[in-house]
Amino acid sequence: MTEHSASALILAARAAAGNAHAPYSNFAVGAAVLLTDGSVVTGANFENASYGLSLCAETVALATVNAQGKLRDVVAIGVIGGRIGHGDTATVRPCGRCRQIINEAAQLGGRDILVHCGGATGDAIATHRLSELLPDAFGPADLGIG
Ligand code: THU
Repeated sequence: MTEHSASALILAARAAAGNAHAPYSNFAVGAAVLLTDGSVVTGANFENASYGLSLCAETVALATVNAQGKLRDVVAIGVIGGRIGHGDTATVRPCGRCRQIINEAAQLGGRDILVHCGGATGDAIATHRLSELLPDAFGPADLGIG
């Protein structure tokens, strides 16, 4: 994974965050998933008036990847987030539930997915392997699914 593709994923995630439906938290998140064929699938957080039903950006993006039949093809994901209108530069990590959902793709694809984390703006990118963010993960392999 080159620095170039990390920053390209962060830029794609930022563009997706522009479509966040986040009127309750006012915190916009974007995710961009890189697949083995070089294509990129994006998602944004999708909140609901019944707050607990809200969907995270990473989950939306990975559900779209699944709908394309490509859940086993995930190489990397870029995630950004920040308060709307604040120009936040702090890098944002996926929440616990999203780490578990990324793990589904990681185990099925047999890849330790790269997770590039950025802020709503700024140049900072923190890169992790999923195994660092979610060590000793429970997943499909535990159920005999591969
Ligand atoms: N959010 C995400 O989209 N991804 C994460 O990993 C963390 C949180 C969203 C959920 C909610 O819409 C808003 O950020 C504030 O929590």
